[in-house]
Formats: sequence, C-alpha cells, structure tokens
Amino acid sequence: MAKEHPLVAVTRRLPEPAMRRLQEADLVLRVWPESAPPPPGDLAALAAGCHGILCLLTDRIDAAFLDAAGPSLRVVSQMAVGVDNIDLAACTARGIPVGHTPGVLTEATADLTLALMLATARRLVAAAADVKAGKWTTWDPLGWVGPDLHSSTVGIVGLGRIGAAVARRLSGFGVEVLYHNRRPSLMAEELGAAYVSFDELLRRSDFVTLHCPYTSATHHLVNAETLALMKPSAILVNTSRGGVVDQEALCAALAAGKIAGAGLDVTTPEPLPADHPLLTLPNVVVLPHIGSASLPTRLLMANMAVDNLLVGLEGGRLPHCANPMP
Ligand code: GLV
Repeated sequence: MAKEHPLVAVTRRLPEPAMRRLQEADLVLRVWPESAPPPPGDLAALAAGCHGILCLLTDRIDAAFLDAAGPSLRVVSQMAVGVDNIDLAACTARGIPVGHTPGVLTEATADLTLALMLATARRLVAAAADVKAGKWTTWDPLGWVGPDLHSSTVGIVGLGRIGAAVARRLSGFGVEVLYHNRRPSLMAEELGAAYVSFDELLRRSDFVTLHCPYTSATHHLVNAETLALMKPSAILVNTSRGGVVDQEALCAALAAGKIAGAGLDVTTPEPLPADHPLLTLPNVVVLPHIGSASLPTRLLMANMAVDNLLVGLEGGRLPHCANPMP
C-alpha cells in the first residue's frame, strides 16, 4: 500500500527551524504565503481536505471552518497558549484534538507585563517621543512624573502560570500583591499574594493586571461598573485578551480621569485602527500583542506547535491538548 503523506495547512510562515522540521517531516505543506492572516474564505480553502492545520490566534477555527476543512482533519495545532479563537466544543464533537503552547511563553509574557506597568506609570513612551521631538529642554521637577511601582499595591486577576510569574517578579519591587481567581490558589502563599474578592482587588490596587483566559465568564470583566470601583490613580494593564475589557467603557473612564492610565498589549479589534480613540489618550500605552515576542520564546512556541501537530497526525495523544479527548 502507498505510504500516506499527510496534507497540512500552515497559516503563516513560522520561525525557520520549525519550518524546516515541517519540511523534513513526510508532509505535503500548504503554507499561507502572506504576512496578513488568511481571510476566512481563504483559510477554509487552505485547509480543505487537509489532515492537519497549524494555525495562529488570528485564525477563526469554528464549526463552519471545520465543515469546510472536511472529514480528513485530524488535528488542529495552534501556536499560542490562548485558544479563544477556536471553538473547542466543535472540535471535541468531531474528535479533533486542539494543540496549544502553554508554559513556554509564561516568562516572556510576565516580562512584558512588568515592562508595560513601568512604561505606563513612568510615561516612558511619551518621554522618549518628547526626546526625539526636541522637547527635552531641561531637567524639569514636574516633567514626565508618574506613580511608583515600588511600594504600591498590585492586583493580579488570574493567578495562573503567567499571573504567578508576574507575582514572582514583583517580589523584587516591595509591593503588596493581591489576587483574585475563581478559587484561591495553592501557589499564593509561596508568592506572597493575598486572596481577595474581585471588588476588593479593584478598590485597593494601584495597578490591576489581567491574566485570566478569555471565556464567556471573563468577557468584559472590566466594564463601566467595575472600572468605577478602581482608584482614580490606578493603572490597568492587560496582557491577556482584549475581550476581557469593555474597551468603550475603558476609553470613557480614561478620558474622564476615573482611572489614571492603561497599558494594553491586547485590544479589540487587533490590530487596533491607527485612528482609534484609545490612541488619542495621553495616559495609554498600546502594544501590538507582543507578550510572547522574544525570539527564543517564539521558537519554543513554534516547535511545540509542530510537536503537537506531528503527534496528532499519527493519531497520538497531544503533549499539550486544550480540549478533552477520550
Ligand atoms: C498569546 O497571546 C498566546 O495566547 O499565546
């Protein structure tokens, strides 16, 4: 019998070593050649008749996509830890395992969270832009001042892997760490983090940093009502998913001075249009979803996605599977 060469759709070029692994495996590859994600129709066409797909968080993998891909599809492997772009239930119902990349991006994302806290509080982006624009005319006692991170109270929403890595870093800043989870975390004591209700966290924190997954339960967790509980001096940091925040309510709260600033690595939509009202606010730092964007981390993620894909094509149990498989 002729040996099967599984057909695999790859929705963007991956870091070269991972690309090479795919090329050297016994696969027939369909690689989306552009740097922008495939529009839904092209994504479906790319995956039609495939046995596997290696996708990114910018690709919508829903029931319509799965129908278009067809019954040959055996595995969805995503190069990301978050899988809110994937209809997990629809994949599970079809017996398709969904691979993702937990763990390897924890430290890079925690690093970026600290960078965003400091960049927002200490006004790094505005200060650096002013230097470039020739607006650094003197050492100014009132110039580019902001709140301290050290000695502050930081509220971590979601003390999972990334939230815990943020707490670990904060121990060097002499801050009080509060956290809120669906249930108290076993790691909290070792991290010096105190469990409080979500409302108490919002009321007491100088920085609120979001590290929960994006689900129907966390959709717009930060909204007009919950923003109203925050201190007027507080800063919101989001490196999870844009949908956790009601962005219109956030814009309004920032414009009205109900909170002092926001550092956002994630927005709705992504990319955020350059003329979006958020970008006109002086107290906001927006980054283009780069939490995991260190070279070593991106390579680890790509390799983990290739590992999941290859195991899935063989019908094995994925090393990192996001949906329940029998
Ligand atoms: C990035 O946001 C990821 O989920 O990996």
